[in-house]
This record gives sequence, structure tokens and C-alpha cells, in this order.
Amino acid sequence: MENLEFKSQKIPFGYMGVSVLLFFLQTLFGLVAAAQFIWPDFTINWMPFNVSREVHINLLLFWMLIGFMGATYFITVDEIKEELYSAKLAAIQLILLVVAGVGAVVSYFFQYYGNQGLEWVEAAPVFDWIIVVAALIWIFNLGFTLKNAKKTTPISSLLFIASVGATLMYLPGMPFFKDMVVQDYFRWWVIHYSVEATWEMFDSIIVGYLVIKLFNLPKEKIYRWLYIEVATILGSGILGMGHHYFWIGTPKYWLWVGSIFSALEVIPPIGMMIEGFLFARKSEVKVEDKATLYWLLIGTVGAFLGLGLLGGAITWYSVNFWEHGTQMTAAHGHMAFFGAFAAVEIAFIYYALSRLNKENYFNKILNSKRWEWGFWLMNLGMILMVSALVMAGAIQIYISRVMAQGYVAAQEHMTPWYAARFVTGFIFFAGVLAYAYDFIVGMRGNCKVD
Ligand code: HEM
Ligand code: HEM
Ligand SMILES: [Fe+2]
Repeated sequence: MENLEFKSQKIPFGYMGVSVLLFFLQTLFGLVAAAQFIWPDFTINWMPFNVSREVHINLLLFWMLIGFMGATYFITVDEIKEELYSAKLAAIQLILLVVAGVGAVVSYFFQYYGNQGLEWVEAAPVFDWIIVVAALIWIFNLGFTLKNAKKTTPISSLLFIASVGATLMYLPGMPFFKDMVVQDYFRWWVIHYSVEATWEMFDSIIVGYLVIKLFNLPKEKIYRWLYIEVATILGSGILGMGHHYFWIGTPKYWLWVGSIFSALEVIPPIGMMIEGFLFARKSEVKVEDKATLYWLLIGTVGAFLGLGLLGGAITWYSVNFWEHGTQMTAAHGHMAFFGAFAAVEIAFIYYALSRLNKENYFNKILNSKRWEWGFWLMNLGMILMVSALVMAGAIQIYISRVMAQGYVAAQEHMTPWYAARFVTGFIFFAGVLAYAYDFIVGMRGNCKVD
């Protein structure tokens, strides 16, 4: 088992801790939002659906971003074998993010959006700017670390490029345009480019890094896959953005551009799944760290299901015409975020815990089998929730769109599936508890961050 050689590899555990905590809270608010589909008055006086939903999805974005930031710091140091340019700046960055996150979430309860309040980017400008400052610190710190390094590696350079991309693409969400079309045009840049495209790069890079660590194969082959992955993500994803431009008042050519390129977006997740399983089969070592291995492989399968299958199914404009904005989209959103990002971040955290605990990792975590409970409960819960949403979505498309009976007529028939989503949500939540407990156990006795 490799050691943690560098002091600045401890800071990322602070990032991981925050991300685990926010993941826990995110699912809790998801359960509240799901309850409100069955009992619309539930918590209505202090947390109506718009609040529970925005807290749920904002916490989601937050824990994932913080997780990716922690991972970039950890992996960069591990790759270049030198300390970070400034561990102190990395700590300040985390504090800023926590301040912005707590501030934004609390402000939602007071319905404070700084006169904006756009879906996915609800945070009032004051919190948004703090996030921008934190992100700038991040790329400044990574940039100087790489600049001063004696050698860089393809993984560390690609991580830096993705970090710059994620930061730059956050900026189009900052100005506020009075014209709704222009506003929505740029709002999607943040969501599709920053969250989907550049995070998908993080996803494939982290998968590549873990594949190298777990399977002990020649790095060059994996780098080659990684370049192909990143090229196909950018090649399809940049114009694939058009799948958000079908019905918002943008020119008609987006119907074709969006359909064709976002159909191509199906390729990278398929490639990633092949990559994971191909290298796992070729590996000559027997991987002992089953927790990391299972999460890594299920991440590639989940990305295939969420992006390839469910994303691919709704992305041609003539299909999207009927599907747009239904529960089928929510099914895609859940599976995509879970498979492509959550699973891979969890895989990374187990790997990081193994490095932190060294041989103790087996006694503390692997042998306890708690991770297996976390793994199966979360995966089962997610598959069942997404299946329920697919059913709800199919009913919704048929009744409200094909039969043209409108929104409310469909909702009555969807309630049983909303109930199924609520109940199976608890299975998922139980899995989160097991995982969070593992993290606490992994950190116990190791919490000191230098
Ligand atoms: C990691 C990558 C991805 C994530 C996290 C993701 C997530 C999401 C989310 C959350 C939405 C709902 C947005 C909203 O209306 O508020 C959405 C919409 C959409 N996504 Fe994805 N997605 C990803 C990749 C893809 C891919 C690869 C495709 C196509 C192959 C795709 C096709 C679509 C389409 C067509 C919509 C619009 C659905 C509608 O009209 O209601 N997505 N995505
Ligand atoms: C206990 C588990 C969960 C429950 C009960 C739950 C419930 C919900 C509910 C009720 C919504 C609002 C849907 C709507 O507006 O129609 C929602 C939205 C969303 N949730 Fe969850 N959620 C859970 C876990 C997760 C997880 C683990 C992820 C990602 C890793 C996730 C990602 C999302 C996304 C991306 C959306 C926005 C979907 C869209 O705009 O179409 N949720 N969730
Ligand atoms: Fe998209």
C-alpha cells in the first residue's frame, strides 16, 4: 500500500469531509421534496417545494464541486510528487466555499435570490461571487503548483485544464440579462458546460487515475484512452449543448445541431465503460480494495445508463418535443449525476481513505462489510428510484402530451410512482448512512489536518 508522502495531501480530506456531509444533507432534502409530491402541504409553511428542491440540487452541485476540487489537489500532488504551491490557500478556499454554501442555502429559506433566482443557479450574486473567488484561488494554486513542478504528467495537466474550464464556464451565469432568452442561453452554459462537460472530464480523468492505481498496467495505454475520452467529450459536448436550446427561443438550426452532436455525446460514457472493464480484465494484479474497484466499475455502468441510455433516449429534438421537462428528464438527471459523478467520487474517497489508513484500511473499512451495504443499498435505491421516475415519465408523456389532457390530469395517475420513488429513496438514504459512517471511521485517528 502506497503511503501519503506529502503534507498537502491532508488538506483534500477536509474537502472530502465537507462533501460527504453535504451528500448526506442533499439526500435528506431530496426525501422532503419527494414527500411533497405525495403530501403537497408537507412543511409548506417554512419549506415549500421550491425551497426543498433548490436546496436538494444546490447541495448536490456543491458537494460534487468540493469533492472534485479535493480530488484535483490530492491527485495533482500524487502525480507530480511535490507539495502544493500553498496548502494555506487551499484551506482558505474551502472556508470560502463553506461560507458561500451555508449562506446560499440559508438564504433560500428566506426566499432571497438577489433579484435573480434562476433554476440551478439560484444563489444570490453575493454568494456566487464568493464561489468565483474560491474557484480562482483553486486554479491559481493548481497553476503555480504545476508551474513550479519539476515534471508534470498527462493526468495533472488534464486536471488543470478541466479546472480552468469549470471555472471559466461558471462566469456566464454571473451577469443578469433582462431578456429571458438571452438569460437562458447563458444559464445553460453554466449547467451544460461547467457541470456536465468539464465535470465529465474530471470523471474520466479520475477513472483513468484509479485504473492506473488499481490495475498496475502500463500508463501509456491508459493515457491514450484518456485523450480519446476527453477529445470525444469536448467534440460532442460543445455543440451538444444544443439539446437545451430546442424550445427556448433560439434559432431553428439548433434543432439539428443539438440533436446530432448530443447523439454523439453517447460515445464517451460507452468508451468509459469499455475502458473500466477492459483494463480490469487485462489487469494482472488481484485488486484487494474491492470498495474502490466496485464503485469505479459501477460508476462507468451508471454513466452508461444515465448518459448513454436515458440521455440518448430523450435527446433527438422530435423525441424531446414530447418528453421535454417531464419526469423522464428527472430520471436521466438522477442516473447521470449518480453514475458519472457520485459513484466516481465515492470510489475516489475510498481510495484516498486507503492511502490515509494504509494497512489499517482493511481492518477499519474493508473487512467490516459496511461498504458493501453502502454500495448495494445506494445502487439498488437509485435503480429503483430511477425506474419509478421512468414509469411516472412515461405516464406523463402519454396523458399530458400525447392525449393532450394537460399537466394536472397526468399527475393523478403518477402518484403511485411518486410514492414508489419516496419509499425507495429511503433505501438509497440508508446506503448513504453506511458510506458516511465508513468515512468517519476512516478519518478517526487521522483527522489532524496539517
Ligand atoms: C454527466 C453528464 C450529464 C448530466 C449530469 C446531465 C444532467 C441533466 C439534468 C439534471 C437535466 C435537467 C435539466 C433541467 O431541465 O433542469 C438534463 C437535461 C437533458 N439532458 Fe442531460 N446530463 C448529462 C449528459 C447528457 C447526455 C450525454 C445527453 C445526451 C446524450 C443528455 C441529454 C439531455 C437532454 C436532451 C436534456 C433536456 C431534457 C428536457 O428537455 O427536459 N444529457 N441533463
Ligand atoms: C433519497 C434520495 C433522493 C430523493 C428522494 C430525491 C428526490 C428528488 C426530487 C423530489 C426532485 C425534484 C424533481 C422534480 O422537480 O420533479 C429531485 C431533483 C433532482 N435530484 Fe434528487 N433525490 C434523491 C437523491 C438524489 C441523488 C443521489 C442525486 C444525484 C446524485 C439526485 C439528483 C437530482 C437532480 C439532478 C435533480 C434535478 C432533476 C431535474 O431537474 O430534472 N437526487 N430529487
Ligand atoms: Fe446537457
